[in-house]
Amino acid sequence: MENNIYPIFDRMLTRQDKEVLLGQRSVMIWFTGLSGSGKSTIAIALERELHRRGLLCRILDGDNIRSGINNNLGFSEEDRIENIRRIAEVAKLFIDSGIITIAAFISPNNDIRDMAADIIGRDSFLEIFISTPLEECEKRDVKGLYAKARKGEIKNFTGISAPFEAPTHPALKIDTSKLTIEESVNKLLELILPKIKL
Ligand code: ADX
Repeated sequence: MENNIYPIFDRMLTRQDKEVLLGQRSVMIWFTGLSGSGKSTIAIALERELHRRGLLCRILDGDNIRSGINNNLGFSEEDRIENIRRIAEVAKLFIDSGIITIAAFISPNNDIRDMAADIIGRDSFLEIFISTPLEECEKRDVKGLYAKARKGEIKNFTGISAPFEAPTHPALKIDTSKLTIEESVNKLLELILPKIKL
């Protein structure tokens, strides 16, 4: 090969082999939404429910990934793209291992989410919009970041001084100011369970 790289994918066991081993089909559940919208909370509740049903899941979450593999990235447009690109590549490894993968990142625009879907594979990609309104996220201000952003202490803060573009055709929309966690998880299960049945 031109660049002296020889991928060995043809000799490795396949995603399907892993799915049969686990007795489940893998799927990418991609949450998008503002900071404080409830992405992580719902991701955790969903994982617990799927786990309880004997299904193997993996959560990838903004603050965790940003303190590890992506700890050299900030919140410029360029860094957000690189953040999501790496996350999508990592998610693909889990998907290819047959694992139901749940991502909770702002992923603030259609281009960024399209890039993730292209890397992971559109057939496996479920885009879930956590559509909790900005006013509610700001009222909750769990991490105190909206207050800081309003005072100008954080630059490029999504929803305040950086854009958030709502998805045009999400597989599901969940507003956590209207639904309880349990109701949200039930809506998700309705969508997901048929897709992960082997
Ligand atoms: S993304 O835009 O690149 O997808 P990501 O989900 O990884 O964002 O990280 C968002 C989290 O980083 C927020 O929940 C918040 O805790 C923290 N954060 C720190 N600075 C910012 C900022 N300028 N904009 C948005 N989130 C920020």
